[in-house]
Amino acid sequence: MKTIQNEFLIIGSGIAGLSFALKAAEHGSVAIITKKEKAESNTNYAQGGIAAVFSPDDSIKYHLKDTLSAGAGLCHPEAVQLLVEQGPNRIKELIDWGVEFSKSSDNSFDLGREGGHSKNRIIHAKDYTGSAVESALLSATKRHPNIRIYENHSAIELITEHHLRQRSIPAGSLLHCWGAYVLNEEERQIITFLAKATILATGGCGQVYYHTTNPRIATGDGVAMSYRAGAVIANMEFMQFHPTTLYHPQAESFLISEAVRGFGGILRLGDGSSFMEKYHPMASLAPRDIVAQAIDAELKIRGEECVYLDITHIDSDAVKARFPRIYEKCLSFNIDITKHPIPVVPAAHYACGGVQSDIKGRTSIIGLYAFGEVAHTGVHGANRLASNSLLEALVFSHEAICDAKNFVKTVTAFPDIAEWDDSGTFNHEEWILISHDKIEIQQLMWDYVGIVRSNLRLNRALRRIKLIINEIERFYKKTKITQGLLELRNLAYVAMLIIESALRRKESRGLHYTTDYPHRNDRYWLKDTIVVRNSQKTGE
Ligand code: FAD
Ligand code: SIN
Repeated sequence: MKTIQNEFLIIGSGIAGLSFALKAAEHGSVAIITKKEKAESNTNYAQGGIAAVFSPDDSIKYHLKDTLSAGAGLCHPEAVQLLVEQGPNRIKELIDWGVEFSKSSDNSFDLGREGGHSKNRIIHAKDYTGSAVESALLSATKRHPNIRIYENHSAIELITEHHLRQRSIPAGSLLHCWGAYVLNEEERQIITFLAKATILATGGCGQVYYHTTNPRIATGDGVAMSYRAGAVIANMEFMQFHPTTLYHPQAESFLISEAVRGFGGILRLGDGSSFMEKYHPMASLAPRDIVAQAIDAELKIRGEECVYLDITHIDSDAVKARFPRIYEKCLSFNIDITKHPIPVVPAAHYACGGVQSDIKGRTSIIGLYAFGEVAHTGVHGANRLASNSLLEALVFSHEAICDAKNFVKTVTAFPDIAEWDDSGTFNHEEWILISHDKIEIQQLMWDYVGIVRSNLRLNRALRRIKLIINEIERFYKKTKITQGLLELRNLAYVAMLIIESALRRKESRGLHYTTDYPHRNDRYWLKDTIVVRNSQKTGE
């Protein structure tokens, strides 16, 4: 079996993985593995932009306050302070790496506005910020001799004490990570990637829901692998639903950026009336949890299928110049957004929880770092403020390399690690099992674990997901691994983590709303929801 050894193994080629790679490459060899073509990531689809304090009218204090307020009491203040203070420096680095952000006529940044922000602070490249960032970072990594990217390579499992030839894990001892077993999808070969520091930058898990803004790669692999390895997982119940995705049978939940509302767009019902004033003083620009819950409530009251985002009152040339991709995409479905309101519905968008990591990106497993959407760094609390996600990935990847560059020097040898053992497995061509199970998971999460939850629905979902996991595990043990199978298995584990976390939180807060406990309860629930697989001791 093939083994590849590096100082740093980065799993994922979105903003978190690539920005880390560019700094890590100054301290050792870097392997980046990525599931598909290298640009394919949530990052590449980001529209609105990146929040940071650049306006003289704004301040770190306001950005901090808005972030804490959206997070509904669960943000870790130290992490948020770091996020907002370091934001402008990290964005300057992006510019040095070649990202061109939109400017105003006086050459200052054209700062947009999004839900929950009290000031204009969203730096953007029109409505395609993500692809501008992704392509600049990829070009910069291409130029670096210490970085190699492996496309179509999927991490299957993290290598820990569980994979030593002489397997012995004394009770209470800490776990270590020395890399990952990786599937080379094209050659159907499993490679042992050894590394002194392993970086989880695998992004989110939106694909666990039937309707999502996330691309197909977002199957929660990092969270599922870390959970199976014994890492601490936090706050998985806080799944963010974006209020406005295009409602059209062929649109695959295409995002209509919150920046459209920041530009003056107004949410309206089918009869043309605006409704958000009833729910929040910021009306259409309220934080996302409030807007998504309001839309859900209005649709249920009226039995209607969508609401409308109206930007027809704004100058049409200005709309086309600011949102060229959204304009073109909607036009391809015969919706001219300068003349007609856009039909929109909420869809799963962002995981606020994830692998627990500290402000240096360190997880509870030694040698394993996590940041970006896969992680729970504590900055988002119970609801992420718009455009704080790309920022989080940048800030925490920087903090992580400051630690990891020293950590790798302390690792002088690898233990005796077993090869991947797939004896007794066969190539089953039962694709129908995989596609059927995937749709079943997505549908049950959408129906029972969506914007509005209840004990009855969550318990039903938990019973079903446990059956599905048993079935998948049986199939997995006798089947040669494929990308479809490993993704299905990971989706099932992530679904279970979301359901179990939601069942534990007996209150409503931020993105978690349950009809059985409809109020926020600070007396008992002002704390993170922590899940660990077994009693193996992990972390600080
Ligand atoms: P990603 O960019 O998702 O990258 C994950 C990488 O990991 C991918 O390369 C993937 O292939 C790889 N990967 C996953 N599993 C494996 C595996 N098992 N093996 C190997 N590789 C693997 N946030 C903002 O702040 N501002 C915005 O304007 C904004 N707009 C958004 C619009 C859309 C449509 C979406 C979907 C999200 C948006 N977000 C936005 C959220 C933001 O884009 C993401 O949270 C952020 O890009 C995550 O970056 P990341 O590097 O952590 O993960
Ligand atoms: C958007 O453009 O609405 C997405 C912003 C985000 O998810 O932060």
